[in-house]
Amino acid sequence: MQNINPTKTKAWQALTTHFATMKYASLNELFANDSTRFQKFSKVFGEDILIDYSKNLINDETLALLLQLAQETELSTAINAMFSGEKINKTEDRSVLHVALRNRSNRPVLVDSEDVMPQVNAVLAKMKAFTTRVLSGEWQGYTGKSITDVVNIGIGGSDLGPLMVTEALKPYKTPLSMHFVSNVDGTHIVEVLKQINPETTLFLVASKTFTTQETMTNAHSARDWLLSFAKEESAVAKHFVALSTNSREVSRFGIDTDNMFEFWDWVGGRYSLWSAIGLSIALSIGFDNFEALLQGAHDMDNHFKETPFEENLPVILALIGIWYNNFYGCETEAILPYDQYMHRFSAYFQQGNMESNGKFVDRNGDEVDYQTGPIIWGEPGTNGQHAFYQLIHQGTKMIPCDFIAPANSHNPLSTHHEKLLSNFFAQTEALAFGKTKEQVESEFLSLGKPIEDAAHIVPFKVFKGNRPTNSILLKSVTPKSLGALIALYEHKIFTQGVILNIFSFDQWGVELGKQLANKILPELADDKEVVTHDVSTNGLINCYKSWRL
Ligand code: F6P
Repeated sequence: MQNINPTKTKAWQALTTHFATMKYASLNELFANDSTRFQKFSKVFGEDILIDYSKNLINDETLALLLQLAQETELSTAINAMFSGEKINKTEDRSVLHVALRNRSNRPVLVDSEDVMPQVNAVLAKMKAFTTRVLSGEWQGYTGKSITDVVNIGIGGSDLGPLMVTEALKPYKTPLSMHFVSNVDGTHIVEVLKQINPETTLFLVASKTFTTQETMTNAHSARDWLLSFAKEESAVAKHFVALSTNSREVSRFGIDTDNMFEFWDWVGGRYSLWSAIGLSIALSIGFDNFEALLQGAHDMDNHFKETPFEENLPVILALIGIWYNNFYGCETEAILPYDQYMHRFSAYFQQGNMESNGKFVDRNGDEVDYQTGPIIWGEPGTNGQHAFYQLIHQGTKMIPCDFIAPANSHNPLSTHHEKLLSNFFAQTEALAFGKTKEQVESEFLSLGKPIEDAAHIVPFKVFKGNRPTNSILLKSVTPKSLGALIALYEHKIFTQGVILNIFSFDQWGVELGKQLANKILPELADDKEVVTHDVSTNGLINCYKSWRL
């Protein structure tokens, strides 16, 4: 893979010139001038995901130039490098192979000349056997009772993915009650412990490194809690399993490595829900459904790997994102699922995108002079409509949004779903086409109000429109369609990282805060005045010390 500065490509120069006209483009006109726009700028993936990107500020030339940018930055080479196990995570000297975890074709995938598929399949088989034992009631706690509750203890990628998927796929739930503890704030675990019975609870300690402060603190508190009832150390083996790459630390914690579900350093934390980290998902929806999730992602992997860029959905969405971020100066992207079960989807891709592409140094180690990852945010519709959509519609910032909805609800209650979807369709229409001064005035006239009486209010009711969106309509949210949707976003992030010439699979930016917290922690142990930091930090710490009870 070459390290190509995207701004030095011919395509980028041409896009800069092209933007000089496109910045005046109007979605109203783009649609009025091309009745085939929807056919041209929308695609169906498989038979159950429609992606409509026609309500974007793009035309044929924009897309052609963006596709040229993908060619010039050698995206194909990078895709092949990832799928063939090359160590593209250079700063950590690792391959990037979450795609191997869901490689349902079983074609060999080599890391250091060794096929990883036998290990992947062995862990999947172990997860399946374990899931069956827990769900059948055969796996028992220290008093011989079957498991009723599962607590996943993890943070970041060891929490957000499993939590998001188990929530999104709640309609497929097994009888097990699922709980997630991530925050080192003691409140999180205390509130979960109140809901569960030590005799029937299984803790999954999910941590790639098995050294993460939050997770280890919560895991130790959970173990102390269990032992306060069970009294016998042997109970730990019946109530704790580990999902990790670090067998040494797992043993040190006291978990038998027989009860460890392994994964490997070539699985990034935020890409790990497909690995042993997904054990909570398998327990929550059953192993067959977990496999369907993998299958959906594998189908998207094949699409990404094999489809020409002009038809390649992750590539198209990635290019459109770069267009807004780098040419229109949009700083954020909203992900807005119209599905209550998907309420953690934007939070999940906040980590997925921002931890991957929030980098200011390019692959040569030089500071970039263009934009890299956008700020990702969002909440489910229709709640967001009554909170922050005002700014999306009439604010001074352009916020490209992804609207996601299922055509079929798992809870088809009276007219709820039609109402939900009428909002889903209406929002992108309103954002794209807005409402002119003339339209506002004629609305007043049609109500029989003289326009002079309404003139003062007219400006406030104008919607300029031209606010770009993608719409993603799923037939329904199933394990398979969700798997494909997650992989779509993963590959979008990968594509953007390649084109923007950054390393998407490390996360050095989280280290400094951790280091400083480790330095501060011992300083909090006594009541002595702290003077080792800047005056603000000293002041805050000393105030805390004087206030704490
Ligand atoms: O926040 C940094 C990070 O390393 C994430 O990338 C990761 O998902 C999270 O911490 C948890 O790490 P681990 O699974 O090793 O506990």
